[in-house]
Amino acid sequence: MTTDKQTLLRVEDLVKHFPIYRGVIRRKVGAVRAVDGVSFEIKQGETLGLVGESGCGKTTTGRTILRLYEPTSGHVYFKGQDLAHLKPEEMRKARKDIQIIFQDPYASLNPRMTVREIIGEPMLAFGIASGKEIDDRVAELLDLVSLDHNYASRYPHEFSGGQRQRIGVARALAMNPSFIVCDEPISALDVSIQAQIVNLLEDLQKELNLTYLFIAHDLSMVRHISDRVAVMYLGIIVEIANRKDVYVNPLHPYTQALLSSIPVADPKFYEEHQRIILEGDVPSPANPPSGCRFRTRCPIADEHCAEVQPVLREITSGHFVACLKVTPIDDQKEVIN
Ligand SMILES: Nc1ncnc2c1ncn2[C@@H]1O[C@H](COP(=O)(O)OP(=O)(O)OP(=O)(O)O)[C@@H](O)[C@H]1O
Ligand SMILES: [Mg+2]
Repeated sequence: MTTDKQTLLRVEDLVKHFPIYRGVIRRKVGAVRAVDGVSFEIKQGETLGLVGESGCGKTTTGRTILRLYEPTSGHVYFKGQDLAHLKPEEMRKARKDIQIIFQDPYASLNPRMTVREIIGEPMLAFGIASGKEIDDRVAELLDLVSLDHNYASRYPHEFSGGQRQRIGVARALAMNPSFIVCDEPISALDVSIQAQIVNLLEDLQKELNLTYLFIAHDLSMVRHISDRVAVMYLGIIVEIANRKDVYVNPLHPYTQALLSSIPVADPKFYEEHQRIILEGDVPSPANPPSGCRFRTRCPIADEHCAEVQPVLREITSGHFVACLKVTPIDDQKEVIN
């Protein structure tokens, strides 16, 4: 249970629009509404999985929380401060405590730096250690991610994908953070290696009391690691609930479609659940559909869905859904009476 834990991060109505410019004078002609009003909280020690198709705004959400992208509007409360409105110097200090692990372990490590330089870089940047202290800390971090100490003098190209991601994890841990955005840390790895990295992240979470936002594009990848799961579509969250509710009782038609596309070993599941195949592409986030953004691909949408944009409503305790067709039990009673 996570209810008695303290909230570590609270994201409130976060918006990130990327302006679109045209012409010689670079006139602003519109905006990519990559993140368009996202709210959620993560408790201390918890993992929130963030799932959705390519381009729905997961990375932008993670990067905007860390202020790697400047938020257009909204709040990111973290340990009593609103990160979205911190001055650059204050934000620099806060960065020690919040880190990111990137999707592609091949592109995210500088090929010209040794493992020692890569892992030790944040310590040098913050000026908190030098020389022998860095060597000792690098050795300690290599231990933590189960890599040999002797690897410190080697270069990224000498390692496999899984080993590189361990180096990325060690670098993220260098400053003793309490919160880490894991942006698809296993998507680029072989399936056989994915479980190892997930296990490593879980062990580290217990050992170091870490809190994760774990991003993935399909629900099978976050099933094991998440306490709660948020499902994103075209810049907004359409469903958020604890893990069991999302996998056993998905309520939003988009979550149901995502879930039905995961292969399962249990044949009984196939008998009970029809496979839902989503038609068409995700619409452009520069020009999202009116009303419900999912309506153009939704199997149960009607005219009403084109007019009203649904907001997240609590359907059962802790289970929030943004769909006009899914109503809380109390509302249903009112309609019947
Ligand atoms: N720096 C940027 N400038 C302009 N548009 C951007 C920028 N970064 C992202 N976008 C756009 O914002 C939208 C959301 O992108 P984002 O990378 O956050 O999606 P994602 O859910 O992480 O996708 P993926 O699963 O492919 O990583 C996309 O339409 C993308 O093209
Ligand atoms: Mg991404």
